[in-house]
Amino acid sequence: MEKNFKRTLVTTALPYANGPVHIGHLAGVYVPADIYTRYLRLKGEDVILIGGSDEHGVPITIKARNEGVTPQDIVDRYHGIIKKSFEEFGISFDIYSRTTSEIHHKTASEFFRKLYDEGKFIEKTSAQYYDEEAGQFLADRYITGTCPHCKNENAYGDQCEACGTSLNATDLINPKSTISGSVPVLKDTKHWYLPLDQHEAFLREWILEGHKEWKTNVYGQCKSWLDMGLQPRAVSRDIDWGVPVPVEGAEGKVLYVWFDAPIGYISNTKELMPDKWELYWKDKETKLVHFIGKDNIVFHCIVFPAMLKAEGSFILPENVPANEFLNLEGDKISTSRNWAVWLHEYLVDFPGKQDVLRYVLTANAPETKDNDFTWRDFQARNNNELVAILGNFINRSIVLTHKYFEGKVPVAGEFTEYDNATIAEFASVKEEIEKLLQNYRFRDALKEAMNLARIGNKYLADTEPWKLAKTDMARVSTILNIALQISANLAIAFEPFLPFSAAKLRKMLNMTECDWSRLGEMNILAEGAAINAPELLFEKIEDAAIEAQIQRLQETKAANEQKAKKANPIAENIDFEDFLKLDIRVGTVLECTKVPKADKLLMFKIDDGLGGRTIVSGIAKHYAPEDLVGKQVCFIANLAPRKIKGIESQGMILSAEDFVNNRLVVTTTNSEVSPGSEVK
Ligand code: 2FM
Ligand code: ZN
Repeated sequence: MEKNFKRTLVTTALPYANGPVHIGHLAGVYVPADIYTRYLRLKGEDVILIGGSDEHGVPITIKARNEGVTPQDIVDRYHGIIKKSFEEFGISFDIYSRTTSEIHHKTASEFFRKLYDEGKFIEKTSAQYYDEEAGQFLADRYITGTCPHCKNENAYGDQCEACGTSLNATDLINPKSTISGSVPVLKDTKHWYLPLDQHEAFLREWILEGHKEWKTNVYGQCKSWLDMGLQPRAVSRDIDWGVPVPVEGAEGKVLYVWFDAPIGYISNTKELMPDKWELYWKDKETKLVHFIGKDNIVFHCIVFPAMLKAEGSFILPENVPANEFLNLEGDKISTSRNWAVWLHEYLVDFPGKQDVLRYVLTANAPETKDNDFTWRDFQARNNNELVAILGNFINRSIVLTHKYFEGKVPVAGEFTEYDNATIAEFASVKEEIEKLLQNYRFRDALKEAMNLARIGNKYLADTEPWKLAKTDMARVSTILNIALQISANLAIAFEPFLPFSAAKLRKMLNMTECDWSRLGEMNILAEGAAINAPELLFEKIEDAAIEAQIQRLQETKAANEQKAKKANPIAENIDFEDFLKLDIRVGTVLECTKVPKADKLLMFKIDDGLGGRTIVSGIAKHYAPEDLVGKQVCFIANLAPRKIKGIESQGMILSAEDFVNNRLVVTTTNSEVSPGSEVK
């Protein structure tokens, strides 16, 4: 049975402040959380939406080091960009703060200290890699070496990106510090561990017995973690960026980012409500819901609850409706490969179209499985659904009201059977949408809302008031009254999903408030009330705009493929004597011409210091012949002459084959030498 709560605390995963946010973030976490919160607010419930940036962790320090700036510079830059993107997309946070704030450092530090004082951690010393030149312990990401599985020479201490295996830094063959380049040594270091094994029995009972209603993907992941058996987890790290471990002798150590980040939800609530925050975190009548992506399930369902339980005074999440991943045009979204639609860039290309993206991402949300965002689907959903159904219906209703009734809500006369059947479809809408939203089924809830627009569109198409206007104005009046009441329903139903368009629609209909309790009613607008001039809610997106996006992704893909190319493996060893057999010389190009009827060949006359020779070379696609005249080139002088296209070629010009850029470049010397000089 659904428990009744007095208030709801909604949290959204804190994104790392080391890059902007993309459509995957929006679809997986922030749009569903915003829909849920807006809906509860509309119902008049006590609810807050907490967000913020996750500003600690090793990747931020690596980015800072690579750019030659401080970690604080990095997080300042991205926190600003991320916060702005969320504002622009209407994510209605009550607070969006950050984990470098003073209040967060204090909160996280006190949280740790309480567990420490109560003996809730275990202390362990273990050997970890230390960079003697840099004088610091190395986080796994700061160590590279050869992967023991696939022999990739650039594997990281925590993962090999070539074969995808998770690694421990000590697994790497030939480990190297990325800070100084030196070979790290193993050195003992002490850390604090949260003994998850001690919480296992409680977690099993709480999740596997107490929360069978959780989404199958979430429940299933928790079950497999629990079935594997939980191990103690280190909650501190030897780096200098983060919340310092508040224990004597722990200088140079900070809280592990995954220990402090979820505490950020608490800190941000404190910052928002210094006097009331405990009501949201400690009162059993508060419903705590974490919106996250699937990669965060273990931290929110197992680790953070264990931390909260160990602390003792906090409530635990009631639900964790984690989503699966959103892919982009068939490939996993990736920041490092720039395979993403960045929110701030989207708004440059599609200004004012926040709701279009919100719509597409919800209609295609990865709620039960990974889903794919494609630009063609984006265009189709905009043109065939938002424009052709929702926008078209609203526009026709309002335009016709202005045309026939001077912009006043016309009087409804007697209803026909068909009118009654249409109206009846609205009777259970509120209940249906509520049931879906309460169960975190945002995609289906949106479908229900869209279905109302479909009903309205069909109603106008079937009744054709523009035709009746010549003969039966009383009937037109009833039809348009119904059409406007349906429009008012749409303004309410779409508010959680498309807040910008719903507000615009309410303005057109002169609705001063959005009263959720009236959803489904057919007398929301009073007869005779004035409505405003129509404004277009959505506009068609042309092929050219979509093709430009697809083109951009294709360019990204091509650039990534180039970057991923590797040099050919080195050929088998040869003896020195074999090398000595080659007579490589430098010559000056005296003449260079195209070989007739051969698009790849150039014919060279070379000054070889011994009276000159002719060489034919297959580089015509890469050079204009006149550009090579006067240049010096290296050539194999003792290759047996052979006929190419009827010309005797006396040697071979050496060219470098640039495999990344697909071109041939002739080899030459660093400065001019006498023609005929040997290359050794
Ligand atoms: O995966 C991530 O992007 C993390 N920064 C999420 C943290 S959620 C919470 F714990 F703060
Ligand atoms: Zn590997």
